[in-house]
Amino acid sequence: VSRGRVAKLRTVLTDPILEFVETSDVIDLTWGHPGPDLLPVAEMRTAANQALDMYGPDALNYGASVGPAPILQWLRTHIGTIDSRAPADGELLITAGASQGLDLVCTMLTEPADTILVPAPTYHLALKIMRDHPLRIVPIETDAHGARTDAMADAILRLRRRGERPRAVYIIPTFGNPTSLSLIEQRRRDLVELAAGSDMLIIEDDVYRELVYDDVAPPSIWSMADAGSVIRLGSFSKTLSPGLRLGFLTANASIVDRLASGGLLDSGGGVNHFAALVAARFADQGGYLRHVTWLRAQLATRRDALVAGLLGGLPDAVFDRPSGGYFLWLRLPPGLTAQKLRPLAVTRGVDYLPGEVFGIDEIVEDDTLRLSFSLYPPERLAEGARRLSQTISDSIS
Ligand SMILES: Cc1ncc(COP(=O)(O)O)c(C=O)c1O
Repeated sequence: VSRGRVAKLRTVLTDPILEFVETSDVIDLTWGHPGPDLLPVAEMRTAANQALDMYGPDALNYGASVGPAPILQWLRTHIGTIDSRAPADGELLITAGASQGLDLVCTMLTEPADTILVPAPTYHLALKIMRDHPLRIVPIETDAHGARTDAMADAILRLRRRGERPRAVYIIPTFGNPTSLSLIEQRRRDLVELAAGSDMLIIEDDVYRELVYDDVAPPSIWSMADAGSVIRLGSFSKTLSPGLRLGFLTANASIVDRLASGGLLDSGGGVNHFAALVAARFADQGGYLRHVTWLRAQLATRRDALVAGLLGGLPDAVFDRPSGGYFLWLRLPPGLTAQKLRPLAVTRGVDYLPGEVFGIDEIVEDDTLRLSFSLYPPERLAEGARRLSQTISDSIS
């Protein structure tokens, strides 16, 4: 089975409204989507009404290209509370989610065939966006502390010997997808230094920062770098609702200016202007903080149900308990590969994404798999863990 076909092992019916709907009794742990019970429908209705009352036709017209002031103002303060630095005036841009932010950065700041370094495993759909441009992706090894910055330095050197240099690095250093691991602080500093020394942009995908369950999230790479080499992508998808298609990026003012002056924002104005004003109403009245506090508790309970279910069925299961994010990264017992086990898992009523999906070139771990704990309530996750543990136990005995 080729890598591209892995995720399509089961037929997913196309729904006229949603990207994914449940169509069988299979507990589908492949999707990094929030459960429908985690989405604040009533509060959003109120916020939408308020936005229309407050801004009238201005809510429905073309918006300022960097995004409307109410959400920018709220974000400036808010980011200062969830990270070690607040963006200054001009350092924020509203996006239609981290995906669109990444696409815009690739469009405006890279040339086709530029090289981008990407620690693997990584978010497979970000790879797809980069390949659209098309960028040349050079994989970098990771270990238990996250991306190996020594391997990155070697890769930069190898490229330099060929007269090339990487244009950027794409990294998810905080509760990353798919592993939920975070890059240790020293390596964050090493990375800033490497980027400064080789005139390389750091694209920091930071969408899981606020979904922290045990400790506190480490400071972003963006907050550590003063040279302006980092673009940090944030999103309301994981904290509020992905259907808003609303995100933001922080970067120095000249980068923000450049991104905002491109054809897309010049022609259409700021992206998702109405959604941004609705989110600002939601946030301004304390709704966002209330919601995220509640959401963290819900997701921590889901994480715990999945962890307990796995350990109950497989006491020797090898994984790190995720301290943030959406995912659990499980290593299979010796001799098993996630790809081969998957059809049996599906017939037993549980599905997952094989680790291979998140690999790049030779950096592929075929004995790993990703389980998402965002979509289902704790009882279903416990049942999914039971089915998966049973499948694994039966396959080794
Ligand atoms: C690391 C990472 N970046 C970006 C996204 C997509 O974010 P958005 O909905 O803001 O485009 C996801 C969603 O799964 C993700 O895991």
